Amino acid sequence: MCCQPLALWTVGYYQAPDRKVAMSSQGYAFADVADVRERLRETGYLADEAIATTVFLADRLGKPLLVEGPAGVGKTELAKALTSAVGAELIRLQCYEGLDEARALYEWNYKKQLLRIQAAGAAPEAAPGPEGVAGGAPAGAGTWQQTHDDIFSEEFLLSRPLLTAIRRDEPTVLLIDETDKADVEVEGLLLEVLSDFQVTIPELGTVKATRRPFVILTSNATRELSEALKRRCLYLNLDYPSAAREKEIVLSRVPELPEKMAESLVRIVRALRAMELKKAPSIAETIDWGQTVLALGFDTMDDAAVTSTLGVVLKHASDQARAISQLKLGAN
Ligand SMILES: Nc1ncnc2c1ncn2[C@@H]1O[C@H](COP(=O)(O)OP(=O)(O)O)[C@@H](O)[C@H]1O
Ligand SMILES: [Mg+2]
Repeated sequence: MCCQPLALWTVGYYQAPDRKVAMSSQGYAFADVADVRERLRETGYLADEAIATTVFLADRLGKPLLVEGPAGVGKTELAKALTSAVGAELIRLQCYEGLDEARALYEWNYKKQLLRIQAAGAAPEAAPGPEGVAGGAPAGAGTWQQTHDDIFSEEFLLSRPLLTAIRRDEPTVLLIDETDKADVEVEGLLLEVLSDFQVTIPELGTVKATRRPFVILTSNATRELSEALKRRCLYLNLDYPSAAREKEIVLSRVPELPEKMAESLVRIVRALRAMELKKAPSIAETIDWGQTVLALGFDTMDDAAVTSTLGVVLKHASDQARAISQLKLGAN
């Protein structure tokens, strides 16, 4: 998708003036905290007061929101729900070990550049002097400058999620998912981008966001993120939900499940989470469990039902053994 001409990349100017006004006087996405809650609920995401309040503040203060917590508590889902609640588009940067600037920000399309250089070399005006196709100085020099300018232009730029999100002038949610999986150096890059919402491309100039994306970073807290990055963000610690909210979530995702069954599942899942397990069951697993017992037609969660379906929520043999012993399953 090739878009703006080169002129739009020059420092300080990027968009039509009326858009700039629209950006600075841009309205907020939500009227109040209750509005956040209601609109997230409409998308199927059940937010508690803390979630709704932090999302509201992130919108009002225009700050990135860092959501930290164990796997499966609804961090990624929050970004998706928010995206549809505000009618935006989601741009996702999935972090992993080895993620670098070329994958996160932008890189040059070397293959295409090479082809362009070859094509320029083959063109008659590129070989006016005795140097021929090798085209060194001095006769070919002007041509080379042209080619150089040409290959470092918009057409040869591969935009990655961070740059893409900054350049969009439509409502955008930028999800930087599982930030803790990326190497520490990536945080420096994020800091740079998230503090000024601008990116400098040496060959092209500075690209400044005309419309700031709503940024959500998630972390499973496998390592501490830098203080500097945290300082830039609002922070939401997302933990397992209360029993009442988890029951509500399960029933919203598996509406045919009888309420009593949802209650039993949540009670057992919470008991499991209190044990020393390698991997505690997440909300996603409670939902899976609901779907499983519904499919099997169970109408009560007795010992046999729990034992036969435990693999849906516990995925380590040692965790299952521990649960069976601590819940005293099959004791009678
Ligand atoms: N508050 C919530 N409301 C509705 N569904 C939720 C909520 N929290 C979690 N879920 C469910 O749990 C699943 C896992 O959540 P996800 O966002 O993938 O977890 P993670 O925290 O690992 O990113 C989601 O697909 C969604 O179905
Ligand atoms: Mg996730």
